[in-house]
Amino acid sequence: MLSAKNIDLHYGASQALENVSLEAAKGEITCILGRNGVGKTSLMQAVTGRQGITSGSVEWNGRDISKLSAADRARLGIAYVPQGRQIFSQLTVLENLKTGFAALPRGERKVNDEIFDLFPVLRKMLHRRGGDLSGGQQQQLSIGRALVMKPKLLILDEPTEGIQPSIIKDIHNVISILRQQGEMAIILVEQYFEFARDLGDKYAVMDRGVVTLSGDIKSMDEQAVRKFLTV
Ligand SMILES: Nc1ncnc2c1ncn2[C@@H]1O[C@H](COP(=O)(O)OP(=O)(O)O)[C@@H](O)[C@H]1O
Ligand SMILES: [Mg+2]
Repeated sequence: MLSAKNIDLHYGASQALENVSLEAAKGEITCILGRNGVGKTSLMQAVTGRQGITSGSVEWNGRDISKLSAADRARLGIAYVPQGRQIFSQLTVLENLKTGFAALPRGERKVNDEIFDLFPVLRKMLHRRGGDLSGGQQQQLSIGRALVMKPKLLILDEPTEGIQPSIIKDIHNVISILRQQGEMAIILVEQYFEFARDLGDKYAVMDRGVVTLSGDIKSMDEQAVRKFLTV
């Protein structure tokens, strides 16, 4: 479904990605692993259209979408849960969820109950301000906001970063349910190795702007991968 091919990305004169290729298929979780600063977020921004690429292409169901804006890619069903959550702290939980409507046709602008079934805490806190939520609750809200747009590709950028263990467990369960439903492709960017290993189908390890290892998680060499995660 998603195929990024031979991506180069620069910030001014400095190169952040070099010849990076990545695929993500419906019903599967593709994990992107690697330390801080190796280019994981840059790759997600290239896929979602938040950052321009120097060369290569991003294809969605066989169509080259490299030139489309982030808003147009969102309308195609590409949803991004950003690193650091980026909740609107002055808006209520419900208002935050409704910002996901922008990517939907008018007739489909509804927050489905399924989102509250997945994250009961959001139902409980519907009229609280985003800024009043804990970090973990904000992460759940950020995922909920992405699900509002009924994505076909869901990208989660370090969803466990700085989150307490009980909520990490809840998020794990939700990702697992979404995978089982089989309706979307999921890209999970993580540094928490066990979390990614237990959920993922495919993996790619990044180091300094390139993909160093990739394949099926079932046949992954854990020791080799862990070397790219510890400092
Ligand atoms: N907006 C930006 N402008 C300039 N350099 C950036 C920008 N965003 C990221 N970088 C640099 O690009 C490299 C990759 O960063 P990033 O993609 O955020 O890595 P990761 O998500 O793996 O931590 C880093 O050296 C980082 O400092
Ligand atoms: Mg990052």
